[in-house]
Amino acid sequence: MSGWSHRHVLDLASFSVDDFATVLALAQRFRALPVSGARKLPALQGRLMTSLFFEPSTRTRSSFELAARRLSADVQSFSPSSSSLSKGESLLDTARTYVAMGADILVVRHRCAAVPRALARDLEAAGERVAVLNAGDGLHSHPSQGLLDLFTLARHFDPAAPGPAALAGRRIVIVGDVLHSRVARSNLWALTACGADVVLCGPPTLVPDLFADFTAAPPPGQSLDPVARRGRVTVERSLDRALPGADAVMTLRLQKERMRQHLLTSLDTYHRLYGLSQRRMALCGRPVPLLHPGPVNRGVELAGDLLDDPSLSLVDEQVRNGIPVRMALLYLLAAGEAAAASTGA
Ligand code: NCD
Repeated sequence: MSGWSHRHVLDLASFSVDDFATVLALAQRFRALPVSGARKLPALQGRLMTSLFFEPSTRTRSSFELAARRLSADVQSFSPSSSSLSKGESLLDTARTYVAMGADILVVRHRCAAVPRALARDLEAAGERVAVLNAGDGLHSHPSQGLLDLFTLARHFDPAAPGPAALAGRRIVIVGDVLHSRVARSNLWALTACGADVVLCGPPTLVPDLFADFTAAPPPGQSLDPVARRGRVTVERSLDRALPGADAVMTLRLQKERMRQHLLTSLDTYHRLYGLSQRRMALCGRPVPLLHPGPVNRGVELAGDLLDDPSLSLVDEQVRNGIPVRMALLYLLAAGEAAAASTGA
């Protein structure tokens, strides 16, 4: 746990290389444990994790809840449709209600960027010790997904020592709807911190040129980049030029629900230009892994037979790795909170 100082996990722009190393090392330890319910770890016994999801989720929410249970925490979930939000209660008051019930960690997903950060700030200002973990806010950030993608790639490149060094000098191609993807943004911070070069590929409407400068300056609110030397980010319009020499390829869902204008001529054209298939993957020059954060639009961003090909697709492995990575995050936040409580901080 060397140097871990995060009271909340809100984004990956604030993570140092040591922070990534700490999470990956813990995740690797948790990944090695047997998963049978009888062999839960007692680490978070008596702690309460509350998931506040104001947006739909299949993987993230259940993965967090399973991770918390594997660490013996109590788990509570909130559903906006049956809550007092519909009676006009503010988000902060809703969160404080759960804190009053004893929540130690709030796992928050919201369609507006910065809601988890605002909650963390307001709860701290109110003197609450609860930790906030961002499970996806608008287009901004999805730290646990960025970390599980990093862990999956690190394990692929170096199964025995899946740390940040496993990514150094790798060429990772991210294809598709980068503009609407909080997953791509979190991956950009994580991968470049570990020294990987990232090639972003898609049409200008989904991958604007300015993404090449994405990690060039610390994000608003942060004066310094905690990483001294990052990998490069480049934008490439042609998938046929992006793929040769790639060490891994990640494709993203077309987030139609977040698109305000028509950014594509048709799904068929998109699939022809940017859809991944076995034939396209062969352009990498050798078999390289394929990642997708899910949910997948089969036949749009990738062909179904590629998704189902276990020799290339790491998609199920990403889902599996989500649990130990989220266990690591919950563990670190709970341990930090215990340390703060014991020092009276
Ligand atoms: C993503 C999300 O919600 O940001 N999914 C996920 O958490 N695995 C990506 C998406 O919705 O396409």
